[in-house]
Amino acid sequence: MRILALALGALIAVPASAQTAQVAPILTTPEAKDIWTHARPEIARVTHVALDLRVNFASQTLSGSAILDILTAPGAREIILDVDNMNIQTVAALNGPNLPYKIGPRDAELGSALTIQLNPGTKRIRITYNTKPSASALQWLPPELTAGKVKPYLFSQGQPINNRSWIPTQDSPGIRQTWSATLTVPDNMVAVMSGDRLSGDKGMQRANGGRAYEFRMNRPVPPYLIALAVGDLAFKATGKRSGVWTEPSMLDAAAYEVGDVEKMIDAAQALYGPYRWGRYDMLVLPPSFPYGGMENPTLTFLTPTIITGDRSNTDVVAHELAHSWSGNLVTNATWSDSWLNEGFTTYFENRIMEAVYGKTRAALYADLDWDGLQKDLTEAKNGPTTRLHGDPGATAGQLDYFKGSTMLRTIEVAVGRKRFDAYLRSYFDRYAFQPQTSAGFLADIRQRLIRGDKALEARLQLDRWVYQPGLPANAVHVQSAILAKVDAQLAAVKAGGSVSAVKTTGWSTQQWMRFLNGLPRQQTPARLKELDQGLGLSASTNAYVRSAWAELAIANRYEPALPSIEAFVNSVGRGLLIRPVYQALVAQGDWGKPIAARFFAKAKASYHPVTAGQVEKIIAK
Ligand code: BES
Ligand code: ZN
Repeated sequence: MRILALALGALIAVPASAQTAQVAPILTTPEAKDIWTHARPEIARVTHVALDLRVNFASQTLSGSAILDILTAPGAREIILDVDNMNIQTVAALNGPNLPYKIGPRDAELGSALTIQLNPGTKRIRITYNTKPSASALQWLPPELTAGKVKPYLFSQGQPINNRSWIPTQDSPGIRQTWSATLTVPDNMVAVMSGDRLSGDKGMQRANGGRAYEFRMNRPVPPYLIALAVGDLAFKATGKRSGVWTEPSMLDAAAYEVGDVEKMIDAAQALYGPYRWGRYDMLVLPPSFPYGGMENPTLTFLTPTIITGDRSNTDVVAHELAHSWSGNLVTNATWSDSWLNEGFTTYFENRIMEAVYGKTRAALYADLDWDGLQKDLTEAKNGPTTRLHGDPGATAGQLDYFKGSTMLRTIEVAVGRKRFDAYLRSYFDRYAFQPQTSAGFLADIRQRLIRGDKALEARLQLDRWVYQPGLPANAVHVQSAILAKVDAQLAAVKAGGSVSAVKTTGWSTQQWMRFLNGLPRQQTPARLKELDQGLGLSASTNAYVRSAWAELAIANRYEPALPSIEAFVNSVGRGLLIRPVYQALVAQGDWGKPIAARFFAKAKASYHPVTAGQVEKIIAK
């Protein structure tokens, strides 16, 4: 199916603040309809958001205003925004009359529609509002949960649909907006955002107290990419266009860990064309950050769990950097096609890793992803949730990542790298700053790469990959020689060999993962003790190791490991590492469920609202 674009921008004068940026057309095809938004962009849409917010740690609120520039279709009488759980004080035309508005019923997932009546010719609206302490995008951390333990901390996580809890706008990935923001924060704190910094590193003193920081994003981005953090932050450069922000005590370790980033940017540009976002900085957050990383433009957010001292988790940096093309430049129009963001990015991530570290090391990550693919397929029984295109948020496990990247690798092998790279590079150029759908991508690759080659079409099976469950038989599996050696040691242990014979010196996170996840799930207490003590699992400072060990120990109801597991789920809030621990406990029924509830009761206050909600659901089972 072809994407029909309604070029509304051509019919109506573009507001001044949006003039520097291209205003993307509005998608109107059925498959691009986003069921996760209340917005009706074909009637009226937001093109620019200007925020002016005061950050109040005492009340855990943001308060101030949002000025929205809007584009309207002829005769439009209203604009519909997404809001969730916020207090709206006033809605008015900018420097004009108040506008009647209505907040619709709250859907637990989608929040409410904010419908604002427009006067003929209304082009700018001013909304004054404040957020609530329970805003789903925001985590307000008390000083105890920071590294420094003296100042509080605030950060946001927008993807997929949380930003409507702090920004009243049209919160759909198919809609692009430029934005600007002024954040006023307590005197001794620093604010960062996912856009250009206009005020210096120290902000500006405000007459009525606090420091003001100004930011701007003049390239049109989907609203989920607007992000902020406020804390005791310091900066260290890692190169001419990159650097790290984090709490002072973590700065040196963080800067070392991500020190290969300039090489990664060079490699990425050589593959997919210019990096179009200016700076590439990273923010290393407190351990409650719910993800490994988040690709907020100009400022990737990273979990501190990647800091293992050996740069073995820089795949996360390569991944978030790759989103600067797949995701931030070309964006899934709806969350039904998240593989266009995550699958493409996982493929590109591995290409960046190969360019920077070589084939052997890249194969390590790709082979581990293959393990993840098989695990997700098995757990979902190759059922409907193993389709790439499906209900938003419904893809099993990380199949949008693993099946998506395997599909692209399979195409690469079939057509040859040179041809595929040229195609992908042109794909990014042609769709830059636009939303994309599965159907749109398939039409494009057929037109530009397959070009009627029937044999190639039959070989690739693209529709099967995207629309059918399971894994097509042509899937390419990259195997790692390094992991094959781990498998050999694993085989010896499985055959009853002693744990002390396992040579783990210098093991990367990935070698540990292959070993621990490869151990048979049923183990005797004696063997678990030998593993724990021989390999130092409960005492490991590597969060990935602690998580994988917890899963194994819990599967065997191995109680000596519980104190370390409890400490772990109280010190890390990254969903990918803690959810499996809670799931393993719940799977142990009468033995595990009360333990899960007990751990969560204590740890909950340290989790991001989204993660807390996810764990709550696991425990309720
Ligand atoms: N964009 C994702 C994070 C995300 C996914 C947020 C879904 C909200 C909903 C980010 O790029 C990501 O994929 N992070 C991974 C790391 C990566 C190396 C696999 C993660 O968090 O583990
Ligand atoms: Zn990603």
